Amino acid sequence: MISPDSQAQTTRYNIALGVCGGIAAYKAVEVLRGLQRSGCVVRVAMTKRACEFVQPLTFRALSGSHVVVDDYAPDNPDPIAHITFSQTTDLLIVAPATANMIAKFARGIADDFLSSTYLACTAPVLVAPAMNTTMWEHPATQRNLDQLRADGVHIMEPDAGEMACKTIGPGRLSEPDRIVAAALEILSASHKKDLAGERLLITVGATREEIDPVRFISNRSSGRMGFALAEAALKRGAEVTVVRGVTTVDPPLGARVIRALSAEEMAQAVANESGNASVFIGAAAIADYRPVQRAEEKIKKSEERLTLTLERTPDVLSQVAAQKTNGMLVIGFAAETENVVDNAAAKLKSKKLDAIIANDVSRADAGFDVATNAVVIITRDGNRVELPVMSKRETANRILDVITKLRSNGN
Ligand code: CTP
Repeated sequence: MISPDSQAQTTRYNIALGVCGGIAAYKAVEVLRGLQRSGCVVRVAMTKRACEFVQPLTFRALSGSHVVVDDYAPDNPDPIAHITFSQTTDLLIVAPATANMIAKFARGIADDFLSSTYLACTAPVLVAPAMNTTMWEHPATQRNLDQLRADGVHIMEPDAGEMACKTIGPGRLSEPDRIVAAALEILSASHKKDLAGERLLITVGATREEIDPVRFISNRSSGRMGFALAEAALKRGAEVTVVRGVTTVDPPLGARVIRALSAEEMAQAVANESGNASVFIGAAAIADYRPVQRAEEKIKKSEERLTLTLERTPDVLSQVAAQKTNGMLVIGFAAETENVVDNAAAKLKSKKLDAIIANDVSRADAGFDVATNAVVIITRDGNRVELPVMSKRETANRILDVITKLRSNGN
């Protein structure tokens, strides 16, 4: 019996439940019932193979809604079902998820209703796999699961035990009440407003230091990490202002955006805004040096060698930390290629920060211009949290957890 989650009872969450073909498909009925008992409204999508195990009518009778199997079928009431289905849901659960569906999700293949829904879905996704042990342990399946984890998908590890095929090992669908509990936890985490009242100021992206009217010095920052922080903080109830340098991605809706292309402009924008902020996060890759003089006209290639003289730019983060008042939290990033954690810890001290996020930018799966990150968060009290490779969205939420923890410790 599921103990109803109090938040789910007051918030009527909309859940999309995808059911794939496998013996465990019948257990999806219990998942549906458990979610309903917790106050959720559930709609169901089934793959064609799932219908060999359980009739759509069962889910239709229990959910009170049309069950989508084939969105091209003439009886489908919605002509763009994969979009409406995915955009109006608070959580997509796939239980049971077959090796085939996991592989499709990992690769972005959208050749049926459920896989198209997954691609069109911006809500959190919980996948509960069920398959034969050998299929589960196959490197291809494990590779695909790693990809899903990196994409921010929550994976409900299968249980070990005797399988329908009489083999013993991991692969059995997790118990329905555990799937429901995990779903409720994800829902309440994705709807928590624990940053309500905080005003975040975040620098994002690369700066551009002009050499002449056509050339500049810059770096590989895309802005993904800074915007992921902004988006996650907005969802958690904060007011967010971003000082946006050069980015290859767009800011989230709802953030106030101030453009600042050079380190100097960024320093100016931050100075104007920091008095109103309760948390400052320096996520921008700000150039440390700029040409002493910007040439008014394009520099001609008249000489064999050209020497540029550079000077230091203002250190925006240190300036904010030096001038902070009223319990403002100041958090920085450390982009390092060697002695990552030690160098970051030294920056935490020298810049007088409350926390620093150590980033090994030499890794292919972390740092600049990739969707994933792997960081170590170090706080002023010396506490270290090492996060494995995960999506920047997930990383952002873990960094924001540190802010709420610092606040609950009286900072
Ligand atoms: N930063 C800043 N202003 C600068 C340079 C960096 O505010 N002119 C901030 C970054 O936004 C980041 C932190 O300082 O939060 C650390 O940046 P990083 O490039 O790792 O370190 P630096 O201080 O520039 O030192 P170094 O380049 O020598 O490692």
